[in-house]
Amino acid sequence: MRKVALITGITGQDGAYLAEYLIKKGYTVHGIKRRSSMFNTERIDHLYQDPHIENRSLILHYGDLTDSLNLTRIIGETQPDEIYNLAAMSHVKVSFDTPEYTANADALGVLRILEAVRLLNLAHKTRIYQASTSELYGLVQEVPQKETTPFYPRSPYAVAKLYGYWITVNYREAYGMHASNGILFNHESPLRGETFVTRKVTRAVSRIALGMQNKVYMGNLSAKRDWGHAKDYVRAMYAILQQDEPSDYVIATGITTTIRDFIRMSFDEIGVGIEFQGEGVQETARLTGIDEKRFTHKVGNEYIETFRKRIGEEVVGVDPNYFRPSEVDLLIGDATKARTRLGWEPKYSLNALIEDMMYNDLKLMKKDFYLKKEGYTILNYFE
Ligand code: NAP
Ligand code: GDD
Repeated sequence: MRKVALITGITGQDGAYLAEYLIKKGYTVHGIKRRSSMFNTERIDHLYQDPHIENRSLILHYGDLTDSLNLTRIIGETQPDEIYNLAAMSHVKVSFDTPEYTANADALGVLRILEAVRLLNLAHKTRIYQASTSELYGLVQEVPQKETTPFYPRSPYAVAKLYGYWITVNYREAYGMHASNGILFNHESPLRGETFVTRKVTRAVSRIALGMQNKVYMGNLSAKRDWGHAKDYVRAMYAILQQDEPSDYVIATGITTTIRDFIRMSFDEIGVGIEFQGEGVQETARLTGIDEKRFTHKVGNEYIETFRKRIGEEVVGVDPNYFRPSEVDLLIGDATKARTRLGWEPKYSLNALIEDMMYNDLKLMKKDFYLKKEGYTILNYFE
C-alpha cells in the first residue's frame, strides 16, 4: 500500500519541493491549491498528471485554510497518513497590512486541520507537521535560538504562527496526536517568492548584469538571517514525521549573514565587486570592478561591453517603505536536536544556495530580456 500525504500550500516554495520528495519516495500526494484567476501551479507543473491516469501520484483539490468544511471534507476523503500544513500568508511585511486575514489563515487554519483530524477519528492514524517558524523568536531572548528559547513574536504573522505552534502542542498533549512543529529558519531557493529578500536580490543582480535594470531599492540592510536551502529543509519535515514520538525541532544552518553581505555575495557570484557607503536611508552601493573571466563565464560575453561602462554607478539604495513597523534583527539557530535525533544535516552552504539562485535567475531574466526585445509585452495589446 502506498502511503498517502496531504500537503496544504503545495503551490508554494516548500510545497513544491516536498511534493517532489514524497512522490520519489512512493507516496500518493494530495495537495490543496487555492482558486486563482490565473494558473498558480507553475512550481508543480512538472509533477502534474492528467486526471484520467489511474493510480496518480499527485492529486490536487481546491481549498482554503479559512474554510473548515472544505478542509474537513478533503481530509475525510483522502484519509491521509501524513498531513504537512505548509499553507500560510507567509510574508511578514504584508502581515502588517492584512493582520486579520493572516490570523485567520495562519492561526485558525492550524486549528481547523487539527480539529478535522480529531472529529474524523483519524487522531491515531494521521501524523501532522505544522510549519512553524524562527519568526517566533522575534526579539531574540537567547543566541543562538533552540527549542527551549522563549518566544517573542514581532509581527501579526509571527503572533498568528505562535497560536499555530501552541495549538499543535496542545492537541498532541490533549489527544495523543502525532503532531509536531518544525521551527524552520529562513530557507530559500530558485522557487522562492519574488518579494522575499534573497530572491529580490538575485533577480535584481541578474537584471542589473544583463542591463535590464539600473538600481535596486532595499529595506533594512543590517538585519541578519540564518539562510538554508529549501531542498534541505523539506527533508527535515519528512524526517520529523517518521519519528516514533512527535516533537518540535529547530531546523537551521547555525550561520547568520546580513542582507548587505547577501547582496555583496550575489554580485560576487558573477564576478562583480560592489562597495557600500553611507548609513541608514543614505546608504548606497556602487559598482567597483569586474572579474571579466568570471562575468563572461557566468553571465555571457555579449553583456560585458555595456556593463564595463557602468563601473562607478550606484546599484543599491535604501527605501524606508521596505522597513517594518517592528523588525526581527537577528536570527541564528542551533539545530543540535535535529542533528542528533533526526540525523539531519544541511547539504547546501550559503555560497552554493546563492550559486543555484543566481544561475536560475540569470536564465529566467535572459528569457525575459529576449521576449521584451522582440516586443512581447502586455502593453502592446492596447497599442
Ligand atoms: P510560500 O511560498 O509563500 O507558500 C505558501 C503557500 O500557502 C502557497 O501555496 C499559497 O498558495 C498557500 N496559501 C496561502 N494562503 C492560503 C490559504 N488561505 N489557504 C490555502 N493555501 C494558502 O511559503 P513557503 O516559503 O513555501 O513556506 C511554507 C510554510 O512554511 C509557510 O507556512 C511559511 O509560513 C512557513 N515557513 C517558511 C519559512 C521560509 O523561510 N520559507 C521559514 C519558516 C516557516 P498560493 O500559491 O495560491 O499563494
Ligand atoms: N522582503 C524584503 N524586501 N526584506 C527586506 C528588504 C526588502 O527589500 N530589505 C531588507 N529586508 C530584510 C527584512 O526587513 C528582514 O529583516 C529580512 O530582510 C528578511 O526578510 P524576508 O526575506 O522577507 O523574510 P523574513 O525573515 O521576514 O520571513 C521569512 O522567513 C521566516 C522564517 O524566519 C518568511 O519566509 C516567513 O514566512 C518565515 O517564517
